[in-house]
Parts: sequence; structure tokens; C-alpha cells
Amino acid sequence: MSDLVRKLKCLLVGVAILGRIAVSAQENTPSRAWENKALPPELRADSLIAAMTLDEKITLMHGVDPMPQKAYVGYVPGIPRLGIPSLHLADGRAGVGNDAIDVTLLPAPIAAASSWDPGLLEKFGEVLGREEWIKGTNVALAPSIDVVRVPEWGRTFESYGEDPYLNAQMAAAEIRGIQSAGPIADANMYLTMNQESNRFDQNSVVDDRTLHEIYLPPFAAAVQDGHVGTFMCAYVKTNGKYSCENPDLLITILRGQLKFDGWVMSDWGATHSAIPSAENGLDQEMPGSKYYGDSLKAAVTAGQVTMSVIDNHVRHILVPMFRQGIFDRAPSGSWTASARSPERDAFSREVAEKGTVLLKNAGHLLPLRKQTRVAILGVAGGASPKAEGGGSSGVVAPYKISPFDGIRNYAGKEADVTYSDGSDLKASAEVARAADVAIVFAQTDETEGSDRPNLSLPGNQDALIEAAAAVNRNTIVVLDTGGPVLMPWIDQVAGVVEAWYPGQEDGNAIAAILYGDFNPSAKLPLTFPRTATAIPTASPQQWPGVNGESAYSEQLDVGYRWYDATNTEPLFPFGFGLSYTVFELSHLVLTPATVHSQTGPARTQVMVKVDVRNTGDRDGAEVVQVYVEQPAQNGEPPRQLRAFARVPLRAGEKRTVSLGLDPHSFSIYDSSSQQWISPTGEYTVRVGTSSRDLPLSGKVGVKQ
Ligand code: NOJ
Repeated sequence: MSDLVRKLKCLLVGVAILGRIAVSAQENTPSRAWENKALPPELRADSLIAAMTLDEKITLMHGVDPMPQKAYVGYVPGIPRLGIPSLHLADGRAGVGNDAIDVTLLPAPIAAASSWDPGLLEKFGEVLGREEWIKGTNVALAPSIDVVRVPEWGRTFESYGEDPYLNAQMAAAEIRGIQSAGPIADANMYLTMNQESNRFDQNSVVDDRTLHEIYLPPFAAAVQDGHVGTFMCAYVKTNGKYSCENPDLLITILRGQLKFDGWVMSDWGATHSAIPSAENGLDQEMPGSKYYGDSLKAAVTAGQVTMSVIDNHVRHILVPMFRQGIFDRAPSGSWTASARSPERDAFSREVAEKGTVLLKNAGHLLPLRKQTRVAILGVAGGASPKAEGGGSSGVVAPYKISPFDGIRNYAGKEADVTYSDGSDLKASAEVARAADVAIVFAQTDETEGSDRPNLSLPGNQDALIEAAAAVNRNTIVVLDTGGPVLMPWIDQVAGVVEAWYPGQEDGNAIAAILYGDFNPSAKLPLTFPRTATAIPTASPQQWPGVNGESAYSEQLDVGYRWYDATNTEPLFPFGFGLSYTVFELSHLVLTPATVHSQTGPARTQVMVKVDVRNTGDRDGAEVVQVYVEQPAQNGEPPRQLRAFARVPLRAGEKRTVSLGLDPHSFSIYDSSSQQWISPTGEYTVRVGTSSRDLPLSGKVGVKQ
């Protein structure tokens, strides 16, 4: 298209828009231009703000608590005079929360992230968003996108793990999915919400470079690739200031650097003031109006908060509402509607299968054969499946298939499957002894509101595993945990499977994995430590903190970065996971081999090409992982994930995979100039199948 034609087209579009404004001005009144769907969201918001009274503006800026109806967790009444729809907010990290019934219980997000498949996360978001929409929710409080810093964190199961790049990919994908299904997504918790101990007041003391390189990338991706409508500011303080009145986080970074134009709502009870919050970037108080009701109105009337500050907040709320079509579509469904569907039940199982990580499989004991005599031990294996974590992400499961039922159904009625709940170690050992294979289901109880006291399996579970292993060398441990656990018995057992909190299809999914109906392909999104002290946040100053302060003194060395930097051997490294088949990587090609240094994130994309072959005799999938090592003088961790792809391959099949390196691969965040820079030097690109198994490498030079 020539330049002239392009200009003419632009002119015509402009004339058409003006024409539509004129028509709407005649049909309605000029002041109701916000009802004109043809106008851009920003213009519609401005025309609506011009028609609003102060009381109406303030109505939008807070929730109503208690709510008129017992449904949802947050509610902002609509304003019929202006056609402003009400907002219904509901939790949903693994399905619609807040005691909604007839919804799907999905696996925990940490399981979904273990798939290393952004496509699966997009579908995950779509399923969640669809059910929220059916329930009448137009703001879904999901996903949780904080990086896991402390392995004991009680909300690890709600997260995507310890790596900023993996988190960023997953966050953007899930948000796109949610918003494609109707609701506005509300990504939480902004920022440095990395522990539950003292969660309402904890002060995270973190340096600026670490903030930008480790904790911000998922939030940046939520804006730039997910186009998220809203963020929830966290309970904690960052560098001495509460998140919901922190100008560095809310104004300088979120608005100035990330160019976020949606709204920031407070976590429930995380607002601490009227004037400082209004001045420093909080758009909406939740769940009630302690500060953003009469107090805020009085501050405006007294001239302490200007109308333009209020208008800005209201604009932030209205723009995503217009963009997402909340004004233009019929209201979504109702809290009492059923959101169940066979497709979504099947999807819950698909996520559980794709998220289950095979960690150990000595002597190829797995997959099992149907005629194998199996003993199932542990409460999570029988009557009380551990399918979900606790707190606001809780979901009323429509059903839960126990591992015992799943295995029995899979292996057939005639199969010899016995069970013992593990409360009596001697009795359980007898059951284990009498079987060909003993499968111990072990669990942790992770929940919002408290951290795990330590990384050990609670109660007598280690003893149960040891008792089974002592009498049956074919003992397999299935972990239903939200995060890493210590495995003092690792050398005594033949197999370990991390199934996380697998959702309603628990037993069906684990049966498919154990019997090889589904070939495991998941990879750990966080490191499993060998001992309680060999972790990045071992000192009390780091976690749970001293005098209300957590020192982020490990700086950039979060997760595997710390294990690599300190040469500490993990039990299972980040990115690790076994399969029933074997893959081989070869022929790494990097193009171009030289890029030019510049200010800002490197714009030149380096392409990574690599061959992956399934050399075994089963179909499966491998996750190709690309890590970049920066020149020592850049002061970065030894290596960092910068690209990955899950590659399904039939037995014997070979594929050439192309991956583009993340723009930050050859960059560091320069705090003095407040921007990403690409220092010159030689960078090493390593390719493999875990952070500790990187057989291929090549060099990329960054030149002036
Ligand atoms: C507190 C939690 O931190 C947040 O994630 C949740 O959305 C709200 N409560 C509402 O339930």
C-alpha cells in the first residue's frame, strides 16, 4: 500500500468516526457519547466521567461490604442513571471460588505451570474465565503471578514457580485466556508478596535491580502481552511503603515504565489510608469503603485531593470495562447457574496429566502393568484425596476421584489393589509387603494465610514411606504437595512422582501416569532442595524476617540461580522431569551470532534452532530449555532461562525447533539510568532439558 493510499484510508476512518459521534449526538444526547461502541475506550471513558457526579465517581472507587447478596467476594454497584454495569468479583486460581457450586476444580496453577506449555495455560484461563462468566463474574481475581522466593511459602501452589521468565509466559497466557472468555482478569498480588508469615505488614526490603529483573517480569508481561485489565496490590510493604499506597510501585513503575492503563484494586483490607492512597496510585478499595467512601469524599471537598486525581482513578477503572465490552454485552450469567461441562472435566484431567512430574524411576519400574498387585498407602490415596490447596483459591469440587478409585478403575475390577491409610505403620507395612508394588501418597497442607513451618512432610509420612520401603523395594511415592519437600528416603524408594494438587480428576490422572497411558512430560517449575538449610532463603533475616522485615539479600539469586551461584547440589533441579521415552538434542544453530548493544531491551532477536529426536519406543513430549550465561562483569546469576518449548514427538520422530530468545537475554537492568542496557561481551547460550542438563552450547557476541 502506498503512503498516499494509507493516509487516505486513515482520513476516511476518521471521518467515519466523527460521523458516528454526530449521529449518536442526534439520537441520544451528545453527553452520552460513552454509549457509542464505535468510539475508542479512552474517549468513551472521558465522556462518561464528564457526566458523573463526585458521589458516582466515588461509588466506582470502592466495593460494598457486606454485599446485598451472598455471592461473589467483591461487589461494586452499577449506576443505572448512566448505564454503568455493576462489577461482580470472584476468586479463581483453580476454578471459581467463594463457595460457588457446580464448577470445575482444576489442578493447582503450579501443576499447570509444570506443563511448560503456555497454550495449556491459555486454555486454563479460558476454562476458568468461561465458568466465572457463567456465574455472573465480570472481574476474575486471577491469576497469582508472584515469583516463588521462599520454598515454604504457603501460596506456592497458586503460583507458577521460581523463574521470572517462565512466570511471565504463563501469566500472559492465562490472562489472555480469561479475558477471551468474558471477564476482566485481575492479576495478583502486586508486589513482593512472597510469604504468608506476618503477611499483612511484612516489609520486603529489596534492591531496585532485583525488583526489576526478578519480581516485575510477570507483571510487565501481564500488561504488555496479556493486556490485563486490573491488578491487585498486595498486603505487604515494599521498602517501607504499603503496596497500595506506594508511589514507586504504583506510579513510577506501573504507570510510567510499564504503561499500565487499567486499574489497581487493593487486596481485601490492604488499603491503609484515603489521601496517601489516592495520591499514590490506588484506584479502588476492596472490599468496602473504610477509606474510599466518606473520608475520600471529605478530602476532595476540602481540596486535599483534586478532582483530576479522582478522574484519573475513575478513568483507570472505566477504560478496561469499555475495552472488555462490559458495557456493551448483556450481563453475564448468575451465581446459581451450573458451570459444569464434560469438556471442562476432561480438561481438568488433561492439565493434571500434563502437569505431573516423574522425578525418579529406578529400573524402569514404571509404567506398571495391569496385572501388578498394588498396595496404596496414605490418606491422600484413599478417602481424602489431596486435590487442592487452601485459602481464597479454594473451590467446591463437584467430585474428586481418589487415587484408589482411579487405579482400580484403570486396572480393572479383577486387579489386586489393596489399601491402608497409614495411621498404623505396622499394619500399612504388612499391606505393602503383600503387594508387588507399594504406592505411598504423601501430602502437604498448603494454604494462604500461613507458610509451611519447614520443608518436611508433616506427621508420620516420612516414617510411613520408610516402613513401606523397608518391606517392599518397589515402593513409589506420589507427592500431592504444593511445593518442594525434603525426601530423606529418596535412596530407599524406586520411584517418585510429583502430582501437586491435581484437582477433581486426581485418581484418573495419576492412574494414566502410573500405567503409562499418558507419558509424563512435565518439568519442575521450582528447585527441590536436598536439605532444609541448602536453600536460597535459609537465614531468619531472609525468611520469615526479623522485626517485620524480610531482607531480600540473596538479590538476583532466587531459585536455581542461587543453587548455580553457590554450587549447591539440589535434590531435583529446576526444569527437571523424566519421561518413559528418551530424547536427544543436536545441531544447535544461533542466528545471528552477533548483536549490537543498545539502550533499552535488546531488540535484535537471536533465533535458536535445535533438533529434537525421540529415540525411544513411546510417543512423548520433551521441553527444550534455553539458558543464557552473561559475561561475568555483568554481575548476573550464572545462567537464566530465556526461551523454552514443549515439543510432542512420536516414537522415532525428529523435529527442528526454532525459538526466539527473550529480548532481555542480553540485558541487565541498570538502576542508575532506570532502563535495560545490553553490555558488550561474549554471552553463552546453553540448550538442554533441565537447568542442570544443558549439553549444547553456542556463543553470541554483543558488540558496540
Ligand atoms: C485475599 C487474597 O490475598 C487475594 O488473593 C484474594 O483475591 C482476596 N483475599 C479476595 O478473596
